[in-house]
Amino acid sequence: MTAPLIDPFARAITYLRVSVTDRCDFRCVYCMSENMTFLPKKELLTLEELDRMCTTFVKLGVQKLRITGGEPLVRRDIMTFFQSMGRHLDSGALKELTLTTNGSQLGRFADDLYAAGVRRVNVSLDTLDEQKFADVTRWGRLPQILKGIDAAQKAGLRVKINAVALKGFNEDELPSITEWCAERDMDLTWIEVMPMGDIGNENRLDQYWSLKDVRATYADHYTVTDLAERTGGPARYVRLEETNQKIGFITPLSHNFCESCNRVRLTCTGELFMCLGQEDMADLRPALREHPDTEAPLEEAIRAAINLKPKGHDFDYSRQRADGTMSRHMSHTGG
Ligand code: GTP
Ligand code: 5AD
Ligand code: SF4
Repeated sequence: MTAPLIDPFARAITYLRVSVTDRCDFRCVYCMSENMTFLPKKELLTLEELDRMCTTFVKLGVQKLRITGGEPLVRRDIMTFFQSMGRHLDSGALKELTLTTNGSQLGRFADDLYAAGVRRVNVSLDTLDEQKFADVTRWGRLPQILKGIDAAQKAGLRVKINAVALKGFNEDELPSITEWCAERDMDLTWIEVMPMGDIGNENRLDQYWSLKDVRATYADHYTVTDLAERTGGPARYVRLEETNQKIGFITPLSHNFCESCNRVRLTCTGELFMCLGQEDMADLRPALREHPDTEAPLEEAIRAAINLKPKGHDFDYSRQRADGTMSRHMSHTGG
């Protein structure tokens, strides 16, 4: 038996998020600046190398694999990677293979994702207003996303909507987004905006809408019951009794959840980030590339990295400024 990955705070690491590209077909205002410089393509791990990396993590006890980006579905030939990872579902080693996407390519890929063994997708969508959607994503078009969501549901994928709670932007849409998700039998998770990366002229504090306030707004309209249920992600869930709907809250700012952290993040160049909100990183690429015939050095490098996993992030807006800010954009590590 291989010993599982346990960090210095006795947290078992069973969830790997893999950013397969830092590129994206959108430029969301809270995520990217308008002029982004992306990694040269030759820096990227090949799909075969990503496969070796993920397979090694699965061997070391990872049970949940989430493919992220940038936008994961813009990476060329990414379906062959999903198909290949499906073998770990078949063997029972992996419990879930899933992705977080902006939805733009779901129309093309929903059926293939289902065939590869994906059963659930998280789609990032912050507004149902066409003009606001175009404004917040800069390059996105809402009808294309709605078609993508239709295709996903038709293919049999369960869809969860992720909405970043943005003050003065989607506050007024809380009831309409909630009802829309209920009508389509989709779960909904709200996320607090985190100070990740330079976003040009935008100000994080101006964007921040605390989920304590979101919850209070729900409680004004519905009977809200806390649920003990977990997906292995950071969200805490409530049920709205009147609509029997599940709503998730991801609250890095208003309620820190790092004590139960079970995840690490691999970038498309083979860097392992042990925490979304810290700079600590281990470059796994040398162990992979210099030892093409054995995984032992890679396993050792992964264990050494997990031993350096920090306790948590230092994001903090309570002093009326964005403390704990990361220079890295969210698209680098995939959220
Ligand atoms: P489920 O499997 O549906 O629970 O997904 P998940 O919440 O694990 O994944 P998803 O990609 O939907 O995550 C949503 C967002 O939550 C991410 O994009 C991040 O913004 C945030 N998030 C996820 N993990 C962490 C974490 O460890 N720390 C912080 N601060 N935020 C996180
Ligand atoms: N804070 C919180 N969430 C963010 N996302 C991107 N940037 C940020 C940020 N600064 C979200 C996206 C998507 C996920 C990958 O991360 O909306 O849901
Ligand atoms: Fe692309 Fe997602 Fe970032 Fe928007 S939030 S720019 S969709 S990676």
